[in-house]
Amino acid sequence: RIAGPCGLVLFGVTGDLSRKKVMPAIYDLANRGLLPPGFSLVGFARRDWADQDFAQIVHDSVKEHARTEFREEVWRQLAEGIRFVPGAFDDDQAFAQLRRTIEELDELRGTEGNHAFYLAIPPGAFGQVVGQLDEHGLARASDGSWRRVVIEKPFGHDLASAQELDRVLAGVFSEDSVFRIDHYLGKETVQNILAIRFANEMFEPLWNANYVDHVQITMAEDVGIGGRAGYYDGIGAARDVIQNHLLQLMALVAMEEPTSFDAESLRIEKQKVLSSVTLPRRLDLTTARGQYAAGWAGGQKVGGFHDEDGVAADSTTETYAAVTLHVATRRWAGVPFYLRTGKRLGRRVTEVAVVFKRAPHQPFSENSTEELTQNALVIRVQPDEGMTVRFGSKVPGTQMEIRDVNMDFVYGGTFTESSPEAYERLILDVLLGDPPLFPRSEEVELSWKILDPILEAWAKKGTPEPYASGGWGPESADKMLARDGRTWRRP
Ligand code: BG6
Repeated sequence: RIAGPCGLVLFGVTGDLSRKKVMPAIYDLANRGLLPPGFSLVGFARRDWADQDFAQIVHDSVKEHARTEFREEVWRQLAEGIRFVPGAFDDDQAFAQLRRTIEELDELRGTEGNHAFYLAIPPGAFGQVVGQLDEHGLARASDGSWRRVVIEKPFGHDLASAQELDRVLAGVFSEDSVFRIDHYLGKETVQNILAIRFANEMFEPLWNANYVDHVQITMAEDVGIGGRAGYYDGIGAARDVIQNHLLQLMALVAMEEPTSFDAESLRIEKQKVLSSVTLPRRLDLTTARGQYAAGWAGGQKVGGFHDEDGVAADSTTETYAAVTLHVATRRWAGVPFYLRTGKRLGRRVTEVAVVFKRAPHQPFSENSTEELTQNALVIRVQPDEGMTVRFGSKVPGTQMEIRDVNMDFVYGGTFTESSPEAYERLILDVLLGDPPLFPRSEEVELSWKILDPILEAWAKKGTPEPYASGGWGPESADKMLARDGRTWRRP
């Protein structure tokens, strides 16, 4: 899988996403020999830069963040295709210049009119840039070549704004030219969920309400919001990651087997799950939201969310969110899916835990199973990528005593192949025009449909509950599970 002749135009070159993810991923792809030799990278921003200045920015980002080793000859070849177009998003001249630059590159580097426009910019500017691309004849390819647009979440902030964004995009690009990045789908371990489920015989027969008690999906981060107040304050944990990453994970865990692994078959199955999701009636008791207060992180005393630079003093933005969802299908009737995410929690971990019912009958005395909990299959998305099966085993000794034990599969100990960074995989797929790992507009809209009522209920409720930095979230989240007779895992 090597990309054919093409180039990428990057909007928002001064942002974190470009510097930390997109630019290094492009270099890594080049270094792995997956980009065409004439690949071009055009930066567009309101900066008074020449091509060399932009090339220097890319160079520095690669040096700092690339995963593969720096090789001068790879860099030199990439740098030859780097251009910069200075201008604001409302500057017609700049877009005309962009068009000329692309045409020159087609001649000089053989990109053959194939270009992807990567909008690593605030979502408020998507419409304007897409409109400019259209107006300046950049969005539509001539015969035999392609134009694609890449956008990053947030895809709107509720259902209505997501629909509006889709309307704007659809007016210019066909749906198969729109690539929405949800970088979780680019993660090796996330793709592996479908491999585990559908390449094996031993899991799927148990993967339903007859045997599964509940599912917990956790995305915990130990970091705070860092310098991202501008983006995060007002958005919050639910919009930031539940709407996209966690609901996508849930869809992969809950979906039926697709007829094939093409984008359309996957979309159909994911869409069926998302449209079967129902919310419990009492949202006040079945969801929780919190905001980090002072506490500890990495052995250091740290302040709370309100102490972060740029956060409004009266901000009610949640940095922790937990929700209970049901999937109204025969397979999942009565099985709650608990989704939680938070900043400044005890440790960084993302995992999916499928927790099984207890054995219906145990021919042991009560004392012998005191230390036995429920069987669980835990898919660790990150870090320590792998999978653990928890089950009961006899403790060696003269008595019958049964205790939980773990059987572990660890990527690092099994595979010699290294996992590509999510952005590498996704950018390559954009350049190849390979869509299975990108959520479609229907999925995005369905996810908002699930979240909107929760967000509305929260908006009426005032402030999120404080939780200490370094802990495991607000008390209300523990109560939420306790009411169902369950507890959160402590990963
Ligand atoms: C992003 C969120 O999508 O994912 C961030 O906007 C979050 O708030 C990040 O920190 C986490 O990504 P990863 O790959 O480190 O789990």
